[in-house]
Amino acid sequence: QAFFKPIQQTAPPSPTQRHTKISVIGAGNVGMAIAQTILTQDLVDVLALVDAKPDKLRGEMLDLQHAAAFLPRTRILADTDYAVTAGSDLCIVTAGARQNPGESRLSLLQRNLALFRSIVPPLAKYSPDAILLIVSNPVDVLTYVAWKLSGFPPNRVIGSGTNLDSSRFRFLIADHLDVNAQDVQAYIVGEHGDSSVALWSSISVGGVPILSFLERQEISYEKETLEKIHKEVVQSAYEVISLKGYTSWAIGYSVANLARSILRDQRRIHPVSVLAKGFYGISDGDAFLSLPAQLGRSGVLGVTNVHLTEEEGQKLRDSAKTILEVQSELGI
Ligand code: NAI
Ligand code: LAC
Repeated sequence: QAFFKPIQQTAPPSPTQRHTKISVIGAGNVGMAIAQTILTQDLVDVLALVDAKPDKLRGEMLDLQHAAAFLPRTRILADTDYAVTAGSDLCIVTAGARQNPGESRLSLLQRNLALFRSIVPPLAKYSPDAILLIVSNPVDVLTYVAWKLSGFPPNRVIGSGTNLDSSRFRFLIADHLDVNAQDVQAYIVGEHGDSSVALWSSISVGGVPILSFLERQEISYEKETLEKIHKEVVQSAYEVISLKGYTSWAIGYSVANLARSILRDQRRIHPVSVLAKGFYGISDGDAFLSLPAQLGRSGVLGVTNVHLTEEEGQKLRDSAKTILEVQSELGI
């Protein structure tokens, strides 16, 4: 007895209406925060999870599948075998060691570099046309590593970068001015974390450029307040890690936001880690660091020409030098 009386079917969808698929590598705090946000936002038809711990992986898959009655229909797969990622449109890499309280992101490099050598080649093999979105830290250097190990063109290898730092910056500015963070436009660029660069001249609230407004109002103390806010952003992760052991929710929303811009071809501008050579006077080496980049279905469409003060430009170039020094010792 069939559940329902079938009706005459029309022709199956054309090959161009193929399923959209995201693979999340690393089913830990960050990977699962990203996965559940992607499901809630109805971004894909298929979500594949990969991790090195089979029980944890199966447990996370089942737990998400049990929410099916409350979510848009999405096939959720999980396997330790990278074949489960085949045909992905987007591969999000969160696998790896995380900071202990007080530890820097850069201190994770050697451990996570070794992981990437085993993770990136199978991802590239099973999904040769995918976009790679790197989250594991140190994210800028590991995005460079993913670019080199995958052999993908630079427009298809992106790091989550300072999209998260910028959302923290926007929250703190909005909180200070008692406005909605979505009405605050503000970019932090450069390295994700310790040497990030706040683009003061880019800050506007409801279309009002903040710095010129403050100068006109002669509110000089506000510049010090903004500098204090940037310092708070740089400290954010260390504070949250010391309190709860890791960060996850903000990065989950940040990366799902990037996935939407890419897979739904939104052509929105995000501060994300891209191959920076040729932009903002960064002429040497293959450093990946965050610049305001337009994202669409083919990945990075371009980098915007935001006005930088001489000081901001120099800080950005110094950030690139820091990253290149680290990269030069990788032997990749
Ligand atoms: P976690 O320890 O909760 O999860 C890491 C997962 O990676 C574990 O489940 C582990 O089994 C898995 N894993 C380890 N080796 C693997 C392999 N060879 N293949 C597949 N999976 C493997 O750590 P958490 O908190 O999720 O952080 C993950 C990474 O994300 C860290 O490097 C952390 O620093 C980074 N992160 C980056 C942020 C950013 O803004 N770019 C923000 C927050 C975290
Ligand atoms: C953060 C660290 C973990 O910014 O990269 O949350």
